[in-house]
Amino acid sequence: MIIFHDMYHNEVNLSFTTDPFASNPKHVWVVCRYEDKWLLTNHSERGLEFPGGKVEDGESPEHAAIREVKEETGADVKIINYIGQYRVNGKGKTIIKNIYYAIVDQITAQQTYFETKGPVLLSELPLASIRHDQQYSFIMKDDVLQNTIKYIEQNFIKS
Ligand code: GTP
Repeated sequence: MIIFHDMYHNEVNLSFTTDPFASNPKHVWVVCRYEDKWLLTNHSERGLEFPGGKVEDGESPEHAAIREVKEETGADVKIINYIGQYRVNGKGKTIIKNIYYAIVDQITAQQTYFETKGPVLLSELPLASIRHDQQYSFIMKDDVLQNTIKYIEQNFIKS
Protein backbone atom coordinates (compact mmCIF):
# COMPACT_ATOMS: atom_id res chain seq x y z
CA MET A 1 0.00 0.00 0.00
CA ILE A 2 1.15 3.51 -0.82
CA ILE A 3 0.48 6.21 1.79
CA PHE A 4 0.81 9.96 1.24
CA HIS A 5 -1.04 13.24 1.84
CA ASP A 6 -3.13 15.13 -0.71
CA MET A 7 -3.01 18.88 -1.28
CA TYR A 8 -5.53 19.38 1.55
CA HIS A 9 -3.23 17.39 3.87
CA ASN A 10 -5.69 14.50 4.04
CA GLU A 11 -4.03 11.09 4.32
CA VAL A 12 -4.51 8.98 1.19
CA ASN A 13 -4.06 5.18 1.02
CA LEU A 14 -3.63 3.75 -2.48
CA SER A 15 -3.37 0.14 -3.60
CA PHE A 16 -3.32 -1.59 -6.97
CA THR A 17 -5.00 -4.72 -5.62
CA THR A 18 -8.60 -5.95 -5.71
CA ASP A 19 -10.92 -3.96 -3.42
CA PRO A 20 -8.40 -3.30 -0.61
CA PHE A 21 -10.70 -0.89 1.27
CA ALA A 22 -14.28 -1.65 0.19
CA SER A 23 -16.05 -4.05 -2.15
CA ASN A 24 -18.73 -1.49 -2.96
CA PRO A 25 -17.09 1.94 -2.98
CA LYS A 26 -19.27 4.99 -3.53
CA HIS A 27 -16.89 6.86 -5.86
CA VAL A 28 -15.13 6.10 -9.15
CA TRP A 29 -12.36 7.73 -11.16
CA VAL A 30 -11.63 6.75 -14.76
CA VAL A 31 -8.32 7.32 -16.57
CA CYS A 32 -9.37 7.40 -20.23
CA ARG A 33 -7.46 6.78 -23.41
CA TYR A 34 -8.71 7.74 -26.88
CA GLU A 35 -6.44 6.57 -29.71
CA ASP A 36 -3.00 7.76 -28.52
CA LYS A 37 -4.29 10.55 -26.27
CA TRP A 38 -5.54 10.99 -22.71
CA LEU A 39 -9.19 11.98 -22.46
CA LEU A 40 -10.07 14.33 -19.62
CA THR A 41 -13.03 16.52 -18.75
CA ASN A 42 -12.97 20.18 -17.79
CA HIS A 43 -14.83 20.41 -14.51
CA SER A 44 -16.52 23.81 -14.18
CA GLU A 45 -15.13 24.44 -10.71
CA ARG A 46 -12.14 22.16 -10.27
CA GLY A 47 -10.56 22.28 -13.74
CA LEU A 48 -9.05 19.51 -15.84
CA GLU A 49 -9.39 16.01 -14.46
CA PHE A 50 -10.11 12.47 -15.53
CA PRO A 51 -13.86 11.84 -15.37
CA GLY A 52 -15.54 10.26 -12.37
CA GLY A 53 -18.12 10.72 -9.69
CA LYS A 54 -20.50 8.96 -7.39
CA VAL A 55 -21.98 5.49 -7.70
CA GLU A 56 -25.78 5.77 -7.74
CA ASP A 57 -28.10 3.58 -5.66
CA GLY A 58 -28.42 0.13 -7.23
CA GLU A 59 -25.56 0.76 -9.65
CA SER A 60 -22.27 -1.17 -9.79
CA PRO A 61 -19.03 0.86 -9.58
CA GLU A 62 -18.06 -0.30 -13.09
CA HIS A 63 -21.39 0.84 -14.51
CA ALA A 64 -20.96 4.18 -12.72
CA ALA A 65 -17.53 4.53 -14.33
CA ILE A 66 -18.93 3.94 -17.84
CA ARG A 67 -21.85 6.33 -17.19
CA GLU A 68 -19.62 9.10 -15.81
CA VAL A 69 -17.30 8.91 -18.82
CA LYS A 70 -20.28 9.31 -21.17
CA GLU A 71 -21.86 12.13 -19.15
CA GLU A 72 -18.68 14.16 -18.70
CA THR A 73 -16.98 13.59 -22.07
CA GLY A 74 -19.52 12.11 -24.51
CA ALA A 75 -17.25 9.09 -25.01
CA ASP A 76 -18.33 5.46 -25.27
CA VAL A 77 -16.21 3.08 -23.25
CA LYS A 78 -14.99 0.14 -25.32
CA ILE A 79 -12.80 -1.61 -22.74
CA ILE A 80 -12.68 -0.98 -19.02
CA ASN A 81 -10.10 -2.32 -16.58
CA TYR A 82 -10.22 -2.10 -12.82
CA ILE A 83 -6.81 -0.78 -11.71
CA GLY A 84 -7.00 -0.21 -7.96
CA GLN A 85 -8.59 1.77 -5.18
CA TYR A 86 -7.80 4.68 -2.89
CA ARG A 87 -9.14 5.93 0.39
CA VAL A 88 -9.04 9.58 1.43
CA ASN A 89 -9.19 9.97 5.20
CA GLY A 90 -10.78 13.41 5.31
CA LYS A 91 -11.44 15.57 8.36
CA GLY A 92 -15.16 14.91 8.43
CA LYS A 93 -15.50 11.81 6.30
CA THR A 94 -13.65 9.07 4.48
CA ILE A 95 -14.19 8.45 0.79
CA ILE A 96 -13.19 5.34 -1.15
CA LYS A 97 -12.74 5.47 -4.93
CA ASN A 98 -12.21 2.74 -7.51
CA ILE A 99 -9.71 3.57 -10.23
CA TYR A 100 -10.39 2.34 -13.76
CA TYR A 101 -8.47 2.50 -17.01
CA ALA A 102 -10.84 2.84 -19.98
CA ILE A 103 -10.28 2.71 -23.70
CA VAL A 104 -12.91 4.78 -25.50
CA ASP A 105 -13.71 4.45 -29.17
CA GLN A 106 -16.11 7.24 -29.98
CA ILE A 107 -16.65 10.77 -28.69
CA THR A 108 -19.96 12.36 -29.62
CA ALA A 109 -21.15 15.87 -28.80
CA GLN A 110 -23.66 16.01 -25.92
CA GLN A 111 -26.41 18.51 -25.08
CA THR A 112 -25.01 18.69 -21.55
CA TYR A 113 -21.82 17.58 -19.85
CA PHE A 114 -23.39 17.88 -16.39
CA GLU A 115 -21.11 19.84 -14.07
CA THR A 116 -18.28 19.87 -16.61
CA LYS A 117 -17.46 21.70 -19.84
CA GLY A 118 -16.89 18.47 -21.72
CA PRO A 119 -14.01 16.53 -23.28
CA VAL A 120 -10.34 17.58 -23.48
CA LEU A 121 -7.78 15.45 -25.35
CA LEU A 122 -4.10 15.66 -24.39
CA SER A 123 -1.10 13.97 -26.00
CA GLU A 124 0.90 14.32 -22.79
CA LEU A 125 0.02 14.89 -19.15
CA PRO A 126 2.34 17.47 -17.52
CA LEU A 127 3.19 15.10 -14.67
CA ALA A 128 6.27 16.98 -13.46
CA SER A 129 4.52 20.35 -13.18
CA ILE A 130 0.86 19.43 -12.69
CA ARG A 131 0.88 20.18 -8.94
CA HIS A 132 1.46 23.86 -9.72
CA ASP A 133 -0.73 24.09 -12.82
CA GLN A 134 -3.89 26.05 -12.10
CA GLN A 135 -5.73 24.52 -15.05
CA TYR A 136 -5.83 21.16 -13.26
CA SER A 137 -8.20 19.90 -10.59
CA PHE A 138 -6.91 19.11 -7.09
CA ILE A 139 -7.72 15.41 -7.67
CA MET A 140 -4.93 15.34 -10.29
CA LYS A 141 -2.37 16.83 -7.90
CA ASP A 142 -1.39 14.05 -5.56
CA ASP A 143 0.40 10.74 -5.87
CA VAL A 144 -2.74 8.92 -7.05
CA LEU A 145 -2.24 10.32 -10.54
CA GLN A 146 1.54 9.83 -10.57
CA ASN A 147 1.31 6.20 -9.44
CA THR A 148 -1.69 5.37 -11.62
CA ILE A 149 -0.12 6.67 -14.82
CA LYS A 150 3.08 4.76 -14.04
CA TYR A 151 1.01 1.61 -13.42
CA ILE A 152 -0.92 2.03 -16.69
CA GLU A 153 2.21 2.75 -18.71
CA GLN A 154 3.89 -0.35 -17.30
CA ASN A 155 0.90 -2.66 -17.68
CA PHE A 156 -1.14 -1.43 -20.63
CA ILE A 157 0.66 1.02 -22.90
CA LYS A 158 3.45 -0.40 -24.99
CA SER A 159 6.09 2.20 -25.87
P1 GTP B 1 -21.49 15.33 -1.23
O1 GTP B 1 -22.47 14.31 -0.76
O2 GTP B 1 -21.89 16.03 -2.51
O3 GTP B 1 -21.05 16.28 -0.15
O4 GTP B 1 -20.21 14.52 -1.66
P2 GTP B 1 -19.32 13.59 -0.73
O5 GTP B 1 -19.01 14.31 0.55
O6 GTP B 1 -19.87 12.20 -0.61
O7 GTP B 1 -18.01 13.40 -1.54
P3 GTP B 1 -17.16 14.50 -2.26
O8 GTP B 1 -16.95 14.05 -3.63
O9 GTP B 1 -17.73 15.86 -2.04
O10 GTP B 1 -15.79 14.40 -1.47
C1 GTP B 1 -15.65 14.78 -0.13
C2 GTP B 1 -14.22 15.21 0.10
O11 GTP B 1 -13.37 14.11 -0.17
C3 GTP B 1 -13.74 16.32 -0.80
O12 GTP B 1 -14.00 17.58 -0.28
C4 GTP B 1 -12.25 16.06 -0.89
O13 GTP B 1 -11.57 16.60 0.22
C5 GTP B 1 -12.18 14.56 -0.79
N1 GTP B 1 -12.03 13.94 -2.12
C6 GTP B 1 -13.01 13.55 -2.98
N2 GTP B 1 -12.48 13.01 -4.08
C7 GTP B 1 -11.15 13.06 -3.92
C8 GTP B 1 -10.05 12.64 -4.72
O14 GTP B 1 -10.20 12.08 -5.82
N3 GTP B 1 -8.81 12.86 -4.23
C9 GTP B 1 -8.59 13.45 -3.02
N4 GTP B 1 -7.33 13.62 -2.62
N5 GTP B 1 -9.61 13.86 -2.24
C10 GTP B 1 -10.86 13.66 -2.69
